[in-house]
Amino acid sequence: MKNYLDDTKSIPERVEDALSRMTVEEKVGMIHAQSKFSSAGVPRLGIPEIWTSDGPHGVRPEVLWDEWSQAGWTNDSCFAFPALTCLAASWDKNLSLLYGISLGEEARYRNKNVLLGPGVNIYRTPLNGRNFEYMGEDPYLSSKMVVPYIKGVQSNGVAACVKHFALNNQEVDRDKVNVNVDDRTLYEIYLPAFKAAVMEGGTWAIMGSYNLYKNEQCCHNQYLLNDILRKEWGFEGVVISDWGGAHNTLQSITNGLDMEFGTWAPGMAWGKTNNYDNYYLAKPYLAMIKSGEAGTKELDEKVRRILRLEFLTAMAKNKPFGAMVSEDHIAAGHKIATDGIVLLQNKYNVLPIDLSKAKKIAVIGENAVKMMTVGGGSSSLKAKYEISPLDGLKKRAGTQTEIVYARGYVGDASSTADGYSTGQDLKETRSADELLTEAVNLAKGADYVIFVGGLNKSEHQDSEGADRLGLELPYNQDKLISELAKVNKNLVVVNISGNAVAMPWVNEVPAIIQGWFLGSEAGNAIAAVLAGDVNPSGKLPFTFPVKLNDNGAHALGEYPGSNGQVTYNEGIFVGYRWTDKQKIKPLFSFGHGLSYTTFEYGKVTADKKEMNDADKITFTVTIKNTGTREGSEIVQLYISDLKSSLPRPVKELKGFEKVNLKAGEEKVVSITVDKAALSFFDADKHNWVAEAGDFEALIGASSADVRSKVGFKLK
Ligand code: BGC
Repeated sequence: MKNYLDDTKSIPERVEDALSRMTVEEKVGMIHAQSKFSSAGVPRLGIPEIWTSDGPHGVRPEVLWDEWSQAGWTNDSCFAFPALTCLAASWDKNLSLLYGISLGEEARYRNKNVLLGPGVNIYRTPLNGRNFEYMGEDPYLSSKMVVPYIKGVQSNGVAACVKHFALNNQEVDRDKVNVNVDDRTLYEIYLPAFKAAVMEGGTWAIMGSYNLYKNEQCCHNQYLLNDILRKEWGFEGVVISDWGGAHNTLQSITNGLDMEFGTWAPGMAWGKTNNYDNYYLAKPYLAMIKSGEAGTKELDEKVRRILRLEFLTAMAKNKPFGAMVSEDHIAAGHKIATDGIVLLQNKYNVLPIDLSKAKKIAVIGENAVKMMTVGGGSSSLKAKYEISPLDGLKKRAGTQTEIVYARGYVGDASSTADGYSTGQDLKETRSADELLTEAVNLAKGADYVIFVGGLNKSEHQDSEGADRLGLELPYNQDKLISELAKVNKNLVVVNISGNAVAMPWVNEVPAIIQGWFLGSEAGNAIAAVLAGDVNPSGKLPFTFPVKLNDNGAHALGEYPGSNGQVTYNEGIFVGYRWTDKQKIKPLFSFGHGLSYTTFEYGKVTADKKEMNDADKITFTVTIKNTGTREGSEIVQLYISDLKSSLPRPVKELKGFEKVNLKAGEEKVVSITVDKAALSFFDADKHNWVAEAGDFEALIGASSADVRSKVGFKLK
C-alpha cells in the first residue's frame, strides 16, 4: 500500500501532513521560482508545481522556461478583457464579479494556479505609466471594485495575487525609490483597497512591490508585511515577491516574504540561465540553516502557506475546468467595455451618430487601427482577436455609411512585445505635414469626423517600466485635432488611454469620449457607443486636471523624488481631494460622465438627524430619467465632516449606486453608511476615529456636480 497524501482531511490537517513528510531541501525548493513563472512542487509526494501568470487583463502567453520571449505555443491565445481603469469606470460591482469569474475561467483552462492581478495602486500622478492597470484615485471606489474581482477569479480554484503592495505609484526608479508617507495618508489613501482585498475579498496571494518603504524593500518589509498585512489584517495567504523584488536573504526570511520570483541576485551574471538555486530564498537560505544562522520556524510557516495555496488551487478538489474565449467571455468583455466608456462631453448632442442619416464618416488617427493588447509590459497579451475602432465602425456602419480613414500622425509603428508580433505593419514614409493635410482634406467632406488617438502601450506612454514625460498628448495630436475642428463641426475625439491627458482643444471639439484600453472587443464597444446602441454610463475613476500642476504631487514638487527618496507631501489630498481643497476646476472631475439621456435628482433625505456610534444612517434620493431613452446613472454619495480636529478633505466618496431607468422612469436610491464612513485615521492612536459633531451627506452626479445635501450629527 502506497503512502499517498491523505486528501480526506481538512486543509489545515492536510498541510501538516504534507509538511511532516518534507525534507528541508524540498521545503526550500518550494519557496522560490524554478522558471520565469513557476515554482517547484514535491514530485515524490505528488505535490504539483505552482504556475503563475500575468496579468490583470487576460492570461499572458507562455514564455520560455527561463526567458521572457515567447515559447511559440499555438494554443495560448486569450480573450483580452478591458484594462482595469475601464472596469473601475463602470462603477459596477456585478461587472467586476463577472470580470473575475471570466478571467479566472481563462486562467483555469490554461492550468494557471495564481493570476498576477488585480492591481490597486492609487492614481497619485497622471504620469504613472501603469495607471491603466489600476482602479483609479479613490480608495473607496477601488476597495469596492477589487473585492468581487477576487471572488470571481478564486471561484475557479485560481488564486488572485493583488499587487503591488504597497506605494508603487510611479515607474521612475521603481525598484530603488523609498516612499516617505505619513501614517494617516498610508491608511486613508494607499492601503484601503489592499485591506479590502484581504479582509473582504479573501485574496489567497498578494505581491510585494518593487519600491521601498521606511527604507526597506516592500517585498520583505517588516512594517507592511508582518505588522500590517499579517498582524493587523490577519492575512493567511502567500506573499509573492514582484519579479526581482527580493534583495536580501535574511530579510526575506524574517520579513514576511513567502515566494521569491524573478531575481537577478548578485554574483549571477545578467543573462545567466537557470540560476534559481542561487536565489536569496534558495541555497543561501539552506546554507544559513545548515550553519545554524537561521532556524526552520520561518521556513515551515512559509511552506504551510504555500501548501494551503496548493490545496486551494492546484490540488483543489472539484474545481471547475474553465474556458477560453467562450461566447460568455466575449459577451462579458463587450459589456464591461461599453459600460466603462465615459462620455466626457457632448455639445449640441453630436452623439450618438444616426448611421441611417450619416453618408460619410472620416475616421482619423493611429489608434483607430493600432492594436493595443500588445505592449505595455507584463500585462501584454496574445489575444485571439482584437477589433480595432476602425473595423468596429466599419462593421457597425455596414454598407449604408461610407467610412474613410487617414492616419493623421505617426505615433509608434512598433508592433512587438516579448517577441510576439501583432502582425501589423505600421511603417509610414510620408511626412507629418503630408499626413496632416490628407486627414484635414478627408475631414472636410465628411458628415462626421471621429478622431481616435490618445496614448499607446509604448515606452513613456501607458506602459510599465517608465513614466510619461508630460500630461500632453504625444505625436503632435493637439495640432491635428485643432485643425480637424476648424474644418468640421461634427468632430468626435475618442481618447484611448489609461491616464488623464491635457486637452487644450476642449472648447473647439463638441464631443469627447474616454475610450480606455478595451481589449478584444474594443472596436465593437466604441462603435456601439458612437452609434447609440449602448447609452454610455461610465464615470471617471480619476481626475483629469487641466495641467500637471493642478495635481497635488506635482504642485508640491515631490515627483519623482530625488536621491532615491520621494515624499508624498500632498498627504491625503490626492485626486479630487486636492482639487476640492485648492478650489481648482478640473478639466473633467472624478466621477464625471454623461449619458445620451438626462437625469433629474430629487432632494436627498436622511432617515435620522442624529446617529450614535453604533448606528447606521440611510440617505435616500429619487432619480428620474427625464430624457427620451433608457440609461443608467451612477449616483454618488460623498461625506463631508464640517468640523474636525484635523484637516480633512472637503468631501470623500463613501457610497455609490448604479441605477438603470427607462425613459420617464423614476427610482428611489438608498445608500446606507455607518461610522466608518465618518472616520479618519488618527496616527497617534493608530486607529480610526469618528469625531462627534456635524456632517453632511452630498449626493452628486460627479465630485464636482453635487445635486443636494443633507446635514446630520454624530453624537
Ligand atoms: C511586474 C508585475 C508582474 C511581474 C511578472 C513585474 O515586472 O511588476 O506586475 O506580475 O513582472 O510578469
